[in-house]
Amino acid sequence: MSNEWDEYANNWDTDPTVEKYANNAFSELLQLINIDGLSVLDFGCGTGALTKLMSPRVGNVVAIDPSTEMIKRLDKKELYNVSTISDYLSHDVIGYRPEFENKFDLIVASSVCSFLPDYESTLTLLRSLLKTDGVFVQWDWFDEDGTQGMGLSKERVERAFEANGFKNINITVPFVMNSSKGTMPVLMAVGKADNIF
Ligand SMILES: C[S@@+](CC[C@H](N)C(=O)[O-])C[C@H]1O[C@@H](n2cnc3c(N)ncnc32)[C@H](O)[C@@H]1O
Repeated sequence: MSNEWDEYANNWDTDPTVEKYANNAFSELLQLINIDGLSVLDFGCGTGALTKLMSPRVGNVVAIDPSTEMIKRLDKKELYNVSTISDYLSHDVIGYRPEFENKFDLIVASSVCSFLPDYESTLTLLRSLLKTDGVFVQWDWFDEDGTQGMGLSKERVERAFEANGFKNINITVPFVMNSSKGTMPVLMAVGKADNIF
């Protein structure tokens, strides 16, 4: 499976911004929950910057990304408890891949959701893969008023979380990234899967 992200794969792991973003996300994650032993889905994992940080502590990670080139780099890391899928997430893929037989304690999506053609429906799919009380966490560029064409607003994310029956929703802007475009704030959204939904 190839996509427009393939061309970034070669330099992804040597880009200090990627590493910093993943380190920041990981540090926020650790402040949020104890990840020891959890079963995790890293949605839109890229070359596995966040997967690699989580791997030593969690039980296992299923890492999915539609870019074959990104996944190739993650496979080369040979992380013992990580299985990879190079594909888009869909009902079909969930139906036939053994990695989706069991639901997850934690799903992370680091800098992915704002690039999706249909964020809201993808969130519904992701929600269906969580155990009761499982946690979903996303990080994305923060688009304060939803007009910047890149990133997500708090309002849009909150609406999508509520529509999917997440509880304990918490949306913050915990860190900023400095780039050639200036200072870019990062939105972090967390929700728990509700067992009555
Ligand atoms: C900015 S990169 C982030 C990669 C990784 N999460 C990280 O933090 O380094 C965005 C990733 O989203 C993936 N992506 C793009 N469209 C997607 C889709 N429809 N479903 C899942 N992932 C997608 C890309 O292939 C790419 O690896």
